[in-house]
Amino acid sequence: MPIDQAAVAELDRVDTRPALVDPFGRAITYLRVSVTDRCDFRCIYCMSENMAFLPKRDVLSLEELDRLCSAFVARGVRKLRLTGGEPLVRRDIMTLFSSLSRHLRSGDLDELTVTTNGSQLGKYAREIKSCGVQRINVSLDTLNAEKFRAITRWGSLDQVLAGIAAAQDAGLKIKINAVALKGVNDDEFPRLIEWAHGRGMDLTLIEVMPLGEIGAGRLDQYLPLSMVRARLAERYQLEDIDHRSGGPARYVRVAETGGILGFITPLTHNFCESCNRVRVTCTGTLYMCLGQEDAADLRKPLRASEGNDLLFAAIDEAILRKPKGHDFIIDRRHKRPALARHMSVTGG
Ligand SMILES: C[S@@+](CC[C@H](N)C(=O)[O-])C[C@H]1O[C@@H](n2cnc3c(N)ncnc32)[C@H](O)[C@@H]1O
Ligand code: SF4
Repeated sequence: MPIDQAAVAELDRVDTRPALVDPFGRAITYLRVSVTDRCDFRCIYCMSENMAFLPKRDVLSLEELDRLCSAFVARGVRKLRLTGGEPLVRRDIMTLFSSLSRHLRSGDLDELTVTTNGSQLGKYAREIKSCGVQRINVSLDTLNAEKFRAITRWGSLDQVLAGIAAAQDAGLKIKINAVALKGVNDDEFPRLIEWAHGRGMDLTLIEVMPLGEIGAGRLDQYLPLSMVRARLAERYQLEDIDHRSGGPARYVRVAETGGILGFITPLTHNFCESCNRVRVTCTGTLYMCLGQEDAADLRKPLRASEGNDLLFAAIDEAILRKPKGHDFIIDRRHKRPALARHMSVTGG
């Protein structure tokens, strides 16, 4: 169903309120929204092969997602990232991009972006660009087709590479995200760096995080990026650059390629003091911190009335509870994840 533009315009008109600032003085300017828990891949670190997905009635409609995102924009969010699950497998997802693009045109939003596994980019890259999206993140852990199949279980490397090419043709700037997996892709980082940088794309390596039961032993996959970085430093000149995203990534320039390499190390690094972000799941659950269980239900106030007063009250109440920091640990004795929810729920 198309999003009713007259209704959203009316809500946009009345909903200007003070910006969100948490009790530690951090302004909340970045919202990541998981638009679906479903995915066309089953990456080994993210999902089990037979995942149980949410019933449709629990998932916010595209119209509700638009309202929710727009409420945050009205409260000072300047950057919006759509994620999932795989955001581009949600039916009619382009109507949400298209509707949200009004906030870019009005100047209320600086950036609309998406994190995708790339499988649908061949189909959607042009439309995404035409909605004002400038940069996207594409997750790709290996350039080896067999390994790609082993990691994603259901994915096709060729389809993703074609999607990346389509996105570049459409004029989208791409950052590649690769999860570092011990014994799986740890021999491939130089190749990934040279491939990405050779095509004008930044690359960020991500340390595997202990989220959700996924069947395999998490400790078997864990590879500290400090080790990866030390090994890469033997081969390349890594120059520290002051390029921060307000998030857990630290960046270097690889002198030999001229490209940027990021390291996201949530387990070995504390980045909470600069945290400007919150996350909402596709059921409207707001997580104030990726590393804590505390959450607030925004679906109930969203569905309770057509205006946004109840929703704003719930958001305000939740932001007051945003914690100072997280405490991720892989439970080494019991080999259990520190948090039970999957990355595909909160969207990474
Ligand atoms: C959950 S996915 C959602 C968006 C999209 N499906 C994709 O793969 O880009 C977002 C990011 O989280 C990463 N991710 C998933 N599970 C993870 C885990 N347990 N530890 C670290 N990164 C993870 C993925 O590799 C991806 O880069
Ligand atoms: S990482 Fe992304 S592509 Fe892989 S299973 Fe999770 S949601 Fe799907």
